[in-house]
Amino acid sequence: MEAFTYTYPVTVYFGEGAAKEHLAAELAKHGPTVLLAYGGGSIKRSGIYEELTAILHAAGKTVVEFSGIMSNPTYEKVQEGARLAREHRVDFILAVGGGSVIDCCKIVSAQAKLEADIWDCEYADHRLPTEFLPMGAVVTAFGTGAEMNNGAVITHTEKKLKSPLWGAFYDFAILDPAYTMTMPMGQVVSGAFDTLSHCMETYFGSPREDNLSDELSEAVMRNVIRNLRRTIETPEDRFARSELVWAAAMGENGILKLGKATDFQCHMMEHQLGAYTDCNHGRGLSALHVAYYRYIVEMAPDKFAKFACRVWGVDPAGKSELETAYAGLDALAVFIREIGVPSNFRELGIPDDLPWQEIADSVMLTSGGYGHLTHEDVRKIFEACR
Ligand code: NZQ
Ligand code: ZN
Repeated sequence: MEAFTYTYPVTVYFGEGAAKEHLAAELAKHGPTVLLAYGGGSIKRSGIYEELTAILHAAGKTVVEFSGIMSNPTYEKVQEGARLAREHRVDFILAVGGGSVIDCCKIVSAQAKLEADIWDCEYADHRLPTEFLPMGAVVTAFGTGAEMNNGAVITHTEKKLKSPLWGAFYDFAILDPAYTMTMPMGQVVSGAFDTLSHCMETYFGSPREDNLSDELSEAVMRNVIRNLRRTIETPEDRFARSELVWAAAMGENGILKLGKATDFQCHMMEHQLGAYTDCNHGRGLSALHVAYYRYIVEMAPDKFAKFACRVWGVDPAGKSELETAYAGLDALAVFIREIGVPSNFRELGIPDDLPWQEIADSVMLTSGGYGHLTHEDVRKIFEACR
């Protein structure tokens, strides 16, 4: 294992009724004005808004609403939130939603305390923010695990970039599986696929020999596969749902990443695809993953063969290591079709006449995986997905 330091700043309240049980005590730690951030209105239809505003009002809070946070949140939306927070001298941000709301608020919390433009600060001056408004997250859509880390993915429309920005960790995250029961099944599936992707992106980094982080990752991947199948069959299955919610958090709370390098090259490709098409994150990933792994499998057949046997139950008898590795990727491809997420860009529903070379050239290249791609490799992978 590589050397690491592990501390974890997010208090997790997991389980049904967690907001009713714990939110008031958390709010009591902060000043009177709360920025209540949410998306396009699902929380009003589901009753979550009513439940949370009752708790906020009972706690004597003044609520400032920051609504309409879109999927793939934009930099303009971040600036709107920061303006609101400053204008109303907000003491605390309560982010209620999926990865998009949760990410947007991480950067609002930093920008509200920062004179300089945070994009320039991080990308031009290479400085990370150090002061933040405190925040809590209430997860209503699982999958990204965004509530567990301090990275946010923000779309800068003008620059045609969907890029990571670093913000604050949440003080606490409320993970009530019951809050996710109204998620449309399409979002359940794309969210769970995103969790699987986070595990794979972490697994396919060095070291290639057996290590605890990867063995835990194998367990999380098997869990996601099993419980997603169970959830598709019985959407109201609370047990399977709660497993998926925690698996998503496990994917991004750092535990699976300890002592190893991660890849996240597929994510970088998906993010730029998102910058140009605004596609759904999990569905963009499913359209890319198999083509990406078929492109790099020969660079680490041993690790892909382990993935095949331990995650997908491929029988290696009578197969070479590389054949076993490919059989695992075939199993992943079959699973993608089975759960009904796109296998390619056509199924993703994006136009075919996009400026592919330009998109490929804009993809951030990562160094922790096995592929060590160039932009030309990225273009070829895009070609294979069309
Ligand atoms: O906006 P509303 O009306 O709330 O509807 C949302 C949205 O349309 C809906 N929804 C959420 N909870 C619901 C619900 N509908 C019914 N009932 C509920 N309980 O779900 C839709 C999708 O929400 P969104 O937050 O956009 O989805 P997701 O959680 O997949 O987040 C995607 C964003 O997270 C980023 C992605 O790039 C993308 O921008 N990611 C963040 C990561 C991180 N910070 O660690 C990691 C990921 O890899 C990912 O990149
Ligand atoms: Zn993701």
